[in-house]
Amino acid sequence: MLVLGSDHGGYELKTAILEMLQEKAVECTDLGTNSSASVDYPDFAAKVASAVSSGEAQLGILICGTGIGMSISANKFSGVRAALVHDEFTAQMAREHNNANILVMGGRVLTPEKGKKLVEVWLAAEFAGGRHQQRLDKISAIEQKVIKD
Ligand code: RB5
Repeated sequence: MLVLGSDHGGYELKTAILEMLQEKAVECTDLGTNSSASVDYPDFAAKVASAVSSGEAQLGILICGTGIGMSISANKFSGVRAALVHDEFTAQMAREHNNANILVMGGRVLTPEKGKKLVEVWLAAEFAGGRHQQRLDKISAIEQKVIKD
């Protein structure tokens, strides 16, 4: 299950991506926003990131104007690896090396066509494991330490 969220700055791109995912019959849920009226991006980052953090969803997509606010917010949630990507290389690496469970993009940075392509690349890529798993384990250890401290 994949969940999507955006603020007003990402609404147009989210709509284009949702249409593409529905055409491809990918199981997904749109958690808003539902118009181009101004909203606060942390509210939608929290909806998507908490669904991924709890295991209710396996993957998420978040879009704001630049992607920056969404990535800062989503990475506060335990177990979330939210990656802000701008091109096909970073979209592929986000999965292969970082096993990113949330893809973040900027709706004011990418055209809808480019954004859709990055989603396709991220979904098709596979986590490489090995030394990259070791690094993700270190991120988890940092997360555990921060929570305890
Ligand atoms: C909203 O104007 C804008 O600040 C937001 O979409 C995002 O770019 C924040 O990082």
